[in-house]
Amino acid sequence: MAQEKIGISGTGFYVPEKVLTNADLEKMVDTSDEWILSRTGIKERRIIAPGETVSSMAETAARQALDRAGVAPEDLDLIIMGTITPDELLPSAACLLQARLGNTTAACFDISAACCGFIYALEIGQKLLQGGRYRNALVVAAETLSTITDWEDRDTCVLFGDGAGVAVLSKGTDRGEIIDCYIGADGSHSSLLEIEAGGSLCPITHEVLDQRKQYVRMEGNKVFKLAVASMVSSAKRVLKQAGLTSQDVTWLLPHQANLRIMKAVAKRLHIPVEQVYINVDRYGNMSGATVPIGLAEMDQNGLLKKGDLLLMVSFGGGLTWAASLVRW
Ligand code: UT7
Repeated sequence: MAQEKIGISGTGFYVPEKVLTNADLEKMVDTSDEWILSRTGIKERRIIAPGETVSSMAETAARQALDRAGVAPEDLDLIIMGTITPDELLPSAACLLQARLGNTTAACFDISAACCGFIYALEIGQKLLQGGRYRNALVVAAETLSTITDWEDRDTCVLFGDGAGVAVLSKGTDRGEIIDCYIGADGSHSSLLEIEAGGSLCPITHEVLDQRKQYVRMEGNKVFKLAVASMVSSAKRVLKQAGLTSQDVTWLLPHQANLRIMKAVAKRLHIPVEQVYINVDRYGNMSGATVPIGLAEMDQNGLLKKGDLLLMVSFGGGLTWAASLVRW
């Protein structure tokens, strides 16, 4: 018997109101608009206001997505949240989001796959819905990277921003049908992108805070090269799984870490840059939230037409990688 289709019945996103421009950063660290723009393509990013959190941003995005999907919060069976900046270490941000939405029965859990959080969550959500027990899943990726950024470190602080993106997955919907996903990782590169303190290895102490180990640290140049290679191989892998080629792709939606990475990936996949969705200039790198925010913007701006093939691909700390194909 053919499996029931799992589709994206609604999308939503939220970015905080506060805009931090490259000119603002010039006043904070030794950097320039010219360096940031030419090396990354970023012009500005959004930063949470006091009191805003991953679950509060995700609630706004989720209500929008549920409304567009015509799904009531109480009809959600699963809430899967990709985040590395949950409101608290316990409980999960997914549970906090559930409480905000007023749902009291869905299974809720966070997954830690950094910039691949959304596509990992999409793969898990699709497979659980296909399993037969559930009908609707809220797949979320939300990050407050501003809370783990060292605002004195010019290597990283110019890169990141905050935001939340959501997709409602529903069984039996062929709008935004998830054709296939591919997820993978190689933990041997884990030290290239990490936050040392706050876990069991290095609990927070005054000394640890003085050493600024609670903040994200990255070997950007090494990560850059691995990002291009793994995004290209993930994209090729998911296309092969589905019996398709890059010629079939209408839109490429890559993780928005750096414009140069996205262009390099598109070039190696022979996808014209006009078919690449780009918003890194407005938001910077929001880790796992970049892909679902891009997806929601494309959906809500009418860029995705019936029959279009969307290829989403990501890469991040772990190192993790992920790709997904969606037929609109
Ligand atoms: O989302 C998860 C995955 N993350 C990524 O994919 C990020 C991947 N990496 C990157 O996007 C890039 O490597 C960066 C944007 C982080 C850096 O660009 P780069 O072209 O790799 O620069 P670099 O690290 O090789 O640094 C070049 C120079 C250095 O100076 P020297 O040693 O050549 O004198 C840095 O000190 O640029 C300097 N630099 C800066 N200068 C002005 C580093 N940060 C800044 C800055 N402003 N903010």
